[in-house]
Amino acid sequence: MSTLIGSELSQFALDVAAGFSTAGGKRIAPRYFYDDLGSALFEAITLLPEYGLTRADERLLRIHADEIAQGAGKLGTVAELGSGNGKKTLPILRAVLQMNPQITYQPIDVSAAALAVCEREIGSLCEMKPVLNDWMQGMSEIGRKREENLPLLLLFFGSSVGNLDRTEIPDFFRDLRSHLRPGDFFLLGADLVKDIDTMIAAYDDPTGVTAAFNFNVLGRMNRELQANFDLRAFAHEVRWNSEARRIEMHLLSCRDQDVFIGALDRAYHLEPGETIWTESSHKFSEEELREYARLSGFASVATWVDEEWPFAEALWRATE
Ligand code: AVJ
Repeated sequence: MSTLIGSELSQFALDVAAGFSTAGGKRIAPRYFYDDLGSALFEAITLLPEYGLTRADERLLRIHADEIAQGAGKLGTVAELGSGNGKKTLPILRAVLQMNPQITYQPIDVSAAALAVCEREIGSLCEMKPVLNDWMQGMSEIGRKREENLPLLLLFFGSSVGNLDRTEIPDFFRDLRSHLRPGDFFLLGADLVKDIDTMIAAYDDPTGVTAAFNFNVLGRMNRELQANFDLRAFAHEVRWNSEARRIEMHLLSCRDQDVFIGALDRAYHLEPGETIWTESSHKFSEEELREYARLSGFASVATWVDEEWPFAEALWRATE
């Protein structure tokens, strides 16, 4: 548990305070899912038969590794936003290494533990320089410290971009682009719009793993922010928002209740049926991804789509 000095509040506490006082309803940012328990639950989600996303991502990267590596050609660096466990990255790195034996791999993650796992999986394969930082600062650091003139390939898998609102996405890609040079590459994995029942089931699995993942953010507030949420007084709610083309996860208050958050020294009221909005997972179309490329300083080189689970791997090249 974190100790707070004087009245200093953790970023988590500040974000909960802000997210619970917005006029549009209570929210918590999805980044707070991922404490140790939440990360383990997410790993379990990726094994669920209903959650085809991760397997589709891995399948595409395995099957098309050589084409992707050839599409990028000569490279000096492979960077990755989020270090993952290496399972998705290995096939691509192997394919890239065949053409570029001297490559440096630079995973960027805020978690030292995640970087350590990644280093165990990949460290023996090629030179590795992990970057302990958030994504944008990590990219900026890599951009500043680059010496060789060989192009860089930036990897961003798992449809993590789906957590951003559509209005934020072009700016996010433009920011990434600002740390790249013309001729660098970006490989993006993004989940596509599909049958509504399939999308809902992926986030509302009958085993209850995703529900547990969602409830855990309340448990985490109890543990780290000295809150007293009764997890059993909430329901896991999954909605498809057809206008915004996104899955939304909420925690629905089953009754009228007051919750005290010790770290904020204040109570919050929840009406029956009121929700805490915990995540948006946007779903994309191939055309939309190509449009994002164009809007943010890239040219779309190729897109690969999985046959079983509509999911796209898009390769872009940074333009002048
Ligand atoms: C890691 C953000 C891509 O949105 O599908 C899985 C997280 N949430 N099940 C997603 C998640 C619920 C996942 N991302």
